[in-house]
This record gives sequence, structure tokens and C-alpha cells, in this order.
Amino acid sequence: MQAPAPKRAVRAAFDKAADNYDAVASVQRAACDRLLQLAVRSAHQSGHRFGHQPARILDAGCGTGYALAGLHQQFPAADLVALDFAPAMLRRHPPGLAHPLCADLEHLPLAAASVDAIWSSYALQWCAPGRAFPELARCLRPGGQLWIATLGPGTLHELRDAFRQVDDAEHVLPFQPPEAIAAAVEAAGLSVLASERATLQAWAPDLRQLLADIKTLGAHNTGAARRKPLGKSAWARLQAAYEQHRSANGLPASYDTFWLIAEKCP
Ligand SMILES: C[S@@+](CC[C@H](N)C(=O)[O-])C[C@H]1O[C@@H](n2cnc3c(N)ncnc32)[C@H](O)[C@@H]1O
Repeated sequence: MQAPAPKRAVRAAFDKAADNYDAVASVQRAACDRLLQLAVRSAHQSGHRFGHQPARILDAGCGTGYALAGLHQQFPAADLVALDFAPAMLRRHPPGLAHPLCADLEHLPLAAASVDAIWSSYALQWCAPGRAFPELARCLRPGGQLWIATLGPGTLHELRDAFRQVDDAEHVLPFQPPEAIAAAVEAAGLSVLASERATLQAWAPDLRQLLADIKTLGAHNTGAARRKPLGKSAWARLQAAYEQHRSANGLPASYDTFWLIAEKCP
């Protein structure tokens, strides 16, 4: 079985990616925009449990802080805490919107029941569900909500399939199926209120650019052992296999996106 990506390497890759991340993060933006719609709807539906508005919201794995402006606009009274383990990501934040916190979301330096809502977009696929969800649940107050977008097993399937023509190694993260995510959420003491799944796509003119964009996003660590660069004929086979996915927009990179809204059981 494929080992999870080593945390130190993942953190270093995101730290290095911070300055250029926003230029290639169109899919990440789309996932956040949809998550905000779902979060606002759910928060309003359970408004009576929050009082009026959540007073403290944690963005867990906030990256360059794209979600913060939308969260501030929708929940103007909330104190925002923006957490990431890559310090360079925190330095990219718009000033004054949130309290930055450099920490690991599997070991949150926050008191139990101290936040009203937790937002996490495209970060939890880097974590062990059995460690991350109990920790997020611990910090949520009873009745508080979890708003997440994460990635399912169809993510980068074109790349996974193309590499199968070349070698037996795993070149793509072992993404958890949505059922496993929902089960881990429930096992942590939350109840799922809503979920949604859709494939979002990024496009590149050729395979070199597509791989470069994934690297620019900091998302190229897979947990597999470091490999030698591909030889000429292996690269040609990889390109030919990927070309089978070409359409009018270029080469697609699919992101099998799973949004989930849950509430901590009182
Ligand atoms: C793909 S980026 C998404 C960033 C942002 N949420 C967005 O939607 O643009 C994933 C982020 O999660 C952070 N991350 C991954 N694992 C983490 C962990 N265990 N603790 C804290 N941050 C983590 C990375 O440093 C990175 O900034």
C-alpha cells in the first residue's frame, strides 16, 4: 500500500510554492467559491444554534488566504484564525483579515470547544483522517460546524493512468474515497448535514506545463520514493498516453472534489 506523503516534505513543498501558488490555483479558487456558498447556506439554516453568527472561525490549511475575504464578507462579526504549517503561505495573507497561526492541523494549539466553525479547503487530503478529524472535532464547540472541500480518488486520474504505461510506481497521492471521509467525520463525533461531489478541471497546453503547474501548486509530493528522471522513451510513452485525454481546451487535470458540511453533535 502507498505510504502517506511525509509531512516534512509536504510542508517544505508548500513553503516553496507560496509565492507562485495563486497564479495557477484556478481550481482551488473554484472549490473555495462553492464551499463558501455551502457554508453560508448551512450557517444560516442553523443560525439559531450559532446565536446569530459564528464568533470564531478557523481556516485549517489556509494557504495564501484566498478564503479569508469571502469569510469576512459573509461573517463580518467573526474572528478569523488562519492556520497553515507552511510559514511562507501565511506571509502572503492580506493584512488585518485574520490571526495567522503556524501549526499542524493534526495537532491544533487551540483549546477544546474554542471555535464555532472550521473551514478547510483542499488541505485535508494531505492529512490522516484518523488524526485530523478528531482534532478538528475537539476544537469545535458543540453545535459548531465543519465546512470542508477535499479530494477524492479520481483526482489526477489522467496522470495516474498515463504513468501506468511507464512503470509500476504510484505517482499520485492515495486520495480517500468520499465514503471514507464521511465515515471519519462521523467517527469523530460530527454528523454530516450535506455533501456534494464534482470534477473540477485545470487545463494545460502540454504535459510539461501540466506537471510544472502541479509543482507550482506544491502538490507534487506523493509519498513514493524519490525517482530518477524519466528516460527519453519512458517520457515519450507518458506523453502519448496523456495525449489521449486532449480536448479543445488542451490537456485536462481532473480534481475529484468532495464538499462536506457537518455539525458537532451537542
Ligand atoms: C492546496 S493548498 C490549499 C490552500 C487554501 N486552503 C486554498 O484553498 O487555496 C493546501 C494547504 O494546506 C497546508 N497543509 C497541508 N497539510 C497541513 C497540515 N497538516 N497542517 C497545516 N497545514 C497543512 C499546506 O501548507 C497548504 O498551504
